[in-house]
Amino acid sequence: MPFAHITGWGMYVPEKILTNDDISKMVDTSDEWIRDHTGIRERHIARENEFQSTLGVEAAIRALQVANLAPTDLDLIICTSSSPEYIFPATACIIQDQIGATKAGAFDLQAACTGFVFATNMAAQAIRSGSIKNALVIGSEVLSRFVNWKDRNTCILFGDGAGAFVLQASDVPGGVMSAVMHSDGSGADSLAIFGGGSHLPASEATILEGKHFIQMDGNEVFRFATRVMGQAVLEAVESAKITLDDVQWIIPHQANYRIIKTAAKYLKLPLDRFVINVDRYGNTSTASIPIATIEAVQNGQIKPKDKIAFVGFGGGLTWGALIVEWTGAIPTKKHVYQRQYRLFAKLRSFVRRAIRVIEGFFSRKEL
Ligand code: ACO
Repeated sequence: MPFAHITGWGMYVPEKILTNDDISKMVDTSDEWIRDHTGIRERHIARENEFQSTLGVEAAIRALQVANLAPTDLDLIICTSSSPEYIFPATACIIQDQIGATKAGAFDLQAACTGFVFATNMAAQAIRSGSIKNALVIGSEVLSRFVNWKDRNTCILFGDGAGAFVLQASDVPGGVMSAVMHSDGSGADSLAIFGGGSHLPASEATILEGKHFIQMDGNEVFRFATRVMGQAVLEAVESAKITLDDVQWIIPHQANYRIIKTAAKYLKLPLDRFVINVDRYGNTSTASIPIATIEAVQNGQIKPKDKIAFVGFGGGLTWGALIVEWTGAIPTKKHVYQRQYRLFAKLRSFVRRAIRVIEGFFSRKEL
């Protein structure tokens, strides 16, 4: 059975930064309150012309660059998000087209902030089964479009950004070692966007009542998160047949510094074993775990052979953890020029759209 290694990683955040002081000019709050209650200082916000796919494509190309893999070699793309571009089509398909991953099947996976843990596990399982060799997992968010900027309970929390991993099959032991996935739909109401789906289709009333915004029972989510995070890590560690002492880094979903601190206490681990960057990005939902990982790789904290526990929680309710032995970039002499592929992808997409228009014209004439 092949092993599923993480061989590429990439992140992208929009340039624009929104500080706590900026938010305190919009709602009744303060930098001090936000920092004390969440640990967040600032977050990145997408510009009007940036979408979930825009961010996801940038992260994906960077991940492919690190893996030195051509997009045409990808077999599978899973995009996960709490702020999808459309109900359908899947953003994964838009990204597939824009990066020119001509061979890949692409779909979206929805598990709120736990999405990246679930999606990485699904990609790893597809590789471990032997049915595919190369997968791309993307967490991409433009949550700022779903935040009610008049609600101080939620607008202080969220930020925009994207992170991506490339997973590849190898006979060398390592990579994804274990995963646990959990859900409890009885808590579905604690964290949701209720409007715009088939239950509450978009209407004047749903807009006026703000049903298209994130609704959250903050205290309930806080209690749930602190209860499940530590447990999920221990389950995943046990399933990987290692001990917590073997794990160098815990990379939690970056929702709130206080939640991470409580999880550390539960696991009896010092906070310096946790990768934390919620202060600079806020809660970027599915993108938060890859963004934290990539920063830790870039600043030399994470090294090849380190064992890492990723742990996520979020709407659904969902939660899960994944143990990975970090592989690092695989040295290779070949050089894949991603920008060239992107240009080719644009041209290919344009030609295919043009052919569709021409075919449509002639088929109408035939009728
Ligand atoms: N500024 C100033 N005061 C505020 C603010 C604010 N931004 N927000 C709330 N308050 C007030 C409240 O109105 C309340 O006032 P009151 O006592 O007069 O009624 C007081 O502060 C305390 O409110 P709490 O809700 O108890 O504050 P708490 O310390 O619990 O912090 C928070 C709230 C930050 C939302 C916290 O509950 C939390 O982080 N919950 C988890 C949220 C989370 O992680 N969500 C994402 C999950 S992942 C996903 O799937 C998207």
